[in-house]
Amino acid sequence: MSESNAERFLSARSRSVDASGIRKVFDLGVKLKDPINLSIGQPDFDVPESVKQAAIRAIADGKNGYTVTQGIAPFRDRIVAQIKAETGQELPVLITSGVSGGILLALMALLDPGDQVVMSDPYFVIYKYAVRMVGGEPVYVDTYPDFRFDPARFEAAITPKTKILVIATPSNPTGVVMSDEELRAAADLAERHNLILLIDEIYNQLCYDGPCPGGTRYAPQRTLLLRGFGKSYGMTGWRLGCAAGPKWLIEEMTKLQQYTFVCAPSMVQWAGLAALDADISGHVNDYRRKRDLAVSLLEKDFELARPGGGFYIFPRIPQRFENDFAFVEQAIANNVLIIPGSVFSEQKTHFRLSYATTDEKIRQGCEILCRIARG
Ligand SMILES: Cc1ncc(COP(=O)(O)O)c(C=O)c1O
Repeated sequence: MSESNAERFLSARSRSVDASGIRKVFDLGVKLKDPINLSIGQPDFDVPESVKQAAIRAIADGKNGYTVTQGIAPFRDRIVAQIKAETGQELPVLITSGVSGGILLALMALLDPGDQVVMSDPYFVIYKYAVRMVGGEPVYVDTYPDFRFDPARFEAAITPKTKILVIATPSNPTGVVMSDEELRAAADLAERHNLILLIDEIYNQLCYDGPCPGGTRYAPQRTLLLRGFGKSYGMTGWRLGCAAGPKWLIEEMTKLQQYTFVCAPSMVQWAGLAALDADISGHVNDYRRKRDLAVSLLEKDFELARPGGGFYIFPRIPQRFENDFAFVEQAIANNVLIIPGSVFSEQKTHFRLSYATTDEKIRQGCEILCRIARG
């Protein structure tokens, strides 16, 4: 098909998604032979052996057909019990195809064209585009420079069209973990303005300064909690997540799943059940050390907010660079792959670095970035 045919046939929905920023970085990156890759959005550890074996066993045992739409009962029951033990609340659960699957189902269930979704800037990039894909409008709240949840700034962004407030803790791309007080403030805002509070906790097990405060406690009747397995168990390609929240919303998302994703992959659900018993504390300790290493190397030459979880840091680029791309281009010219902040933001002043790699690569990469910063 010619370009003009693409113009004629492609939907406004598809055209509302712009992947040019990240593509530009990939295009530059592919030319490197052995880059120091600090751009990766997944852990560098493998799936625990017990979890792999559970998936293999499920396949060998013939658990290869569709499961019920909401996910296999033993897995769901365990997640319901886990959330109850944490929060005292018994919430219905839907097993999803990754957290992305849960995000899309929630937005499809809740948004009509023109409805607004308030989110922090910087944001996880799927929020922006998934909202647009269903006809909604993302509204950004500037959280620079410390990326904390300031209720006054969020409240100023709320209009009569706002339906959802999205928060991620720990955050991608900043790694910032919301305090219990900030979660309470977010719930209070949602209560006062009659909003759904969507809390994305995909990195909740990768927290380095104490456990990650959990999100449903303060407004359970209007909170949708999304959790994942990809980042905690090194199984991002297996596509597994879960959603817990008000019965009416989980039922609606289940109905939509029936006609879209159908169910999360069957053998992966059995593996997810085994994952609930896997011990990842060794990885958490490793990533705490990696976080400390990267922060200690970068903070001498960059302004940054110390991350408490996940595996990202979001430093400010030195003032003398015209924008984030100019800095990232120079990093790539020096063999270091990082992501320009504007992929996750309306601002072009920062970059995202992932420390999900070896200590040696972190050291080499950070030293090169610091050298560039010093000029
Ligand atoms: C904050 C956040 N939410 C959701 C996702 C998507 O997770 P999944 O791979 O489970 O769809 C990611 C992946 O990078 C993420 O960073």
